Amino acid sequence: MSGVAPDAKGRTLNFQILRCNPQNEASLPRIDHFELEEASGMTLFLALNEIRDTQAPSLQFDFVCRAGICGSCGMLINGLPGLACRTLTSSLPSTITLAPLPGFELIRDLSVNTGKWMRGMSERLETWIHDQEMPKLCSMETPMEPELAEQIYELERCIECGCCIAGCGTYQMREDFVGAVGMNQIGRFRLDPRDKRDDADFYKLVGDDDGVFGCMTLLGCHDVCPKSLPLQTQIAFLRRKMLAHALK
Ligand code: SF4
Ligand code: F3S
Ligand code: FES
Repeated sequence: MSGVAPDAKGRTLNFQILRCNPQNEASLPRIDHFELEEASGMTLFLALNEIRDTQAPSLQFDFVCRAGICGSCGMLINGLPGLACRTLTSSLPSTITLAPLPGFELIRDLSVNTGKWMRGMSERLETWIHDQEMPKLCSMETPMEPELAEQIYELERCIECGCCIAGCGTYQMREDFVGAVGMNQIGRFRLDPRDKRDDADFYKLVGDDDGVFGCMTLLGCHDVCPKSLPLQTQIAFLRRKMLAHALK
C-alpha cells in the first residue's frame, strides 16, 4: 500500500474521524482532524485512546477485549471494515480515516449497535441446537468425531464483529439479507449432529433472496473477515445444498 511505513516510529499521524451524535438533532455529521505522534507497536485502539485522553474527551468508540475476540471494535479503516484493536498504525499510511461500520444502528461517532443486529439475525435464523427430545438429566452426549468437531469449531470462530455485513454490497441494498455471518451460522448448525433440523428446515430459513439466493458472490465478506473464516466455501456449499433441496 502506498505511503505505508514498515518502521513507522516517529511519524506524525493525521486522523480524520467521522463523528456524529444521532441523539442530538442539532449534531450534523462532520470529519474531525487530529494529529498524533506514532509510537512503536501502536494499534488503533491505543491511538484512539490517546486522542480521547488528550484531544477529544467526547469521542466515542467501542472496545472490550483488545485482542480480536469480542468483536466490538469493528470500524471502517481507510474505507475497509476491520478491527481497530488488531490494526497496527504501522500497517497504514500516515493519513488514517475512521468511520463507523455502515449497515448498523449508529450509537455515536465510531460506536454502532452490532449486538442488536446480531440478536435479530440469530432469532430469525434460530441459531441454536434444535432437538425434539427433552434433555435427559445425567445423560451423556454421543461423542463427536474429532474431525467433525474441528469443522464446527472452525465456523464457531466467528466473533460477530459485523465486518462482513459492512463489506457486503448486497446487504447495503437489501437490509433483510442475512449476510455471510448468517449463512455461516446456518452452515455451523447444519453440520452439528445434535441439531435435528434437516435441509427442508434450513431451506425455510435461508432458501430465498434474503438468504443464499440473494448473495451475489461479491466476496467482500471473505476479504474483510478478521478471523479469516472460509466464507467463500461455506456460502457456495450452502447454496448447492439449498438448490439441491429446491430441485428435489
Ligand atoms: Fe466478523 Fe467474520 Fe463473523 Fe463476519 S463472519 S461477523 S466478518 S468474524
Ligand atoms: Fe455479500 Fe459475501 Fe455474498 S460480500 S454478496 S455475502 S459473497
Ligand atoms: Fe475486542 Fe477489538 S476490542 S475485538
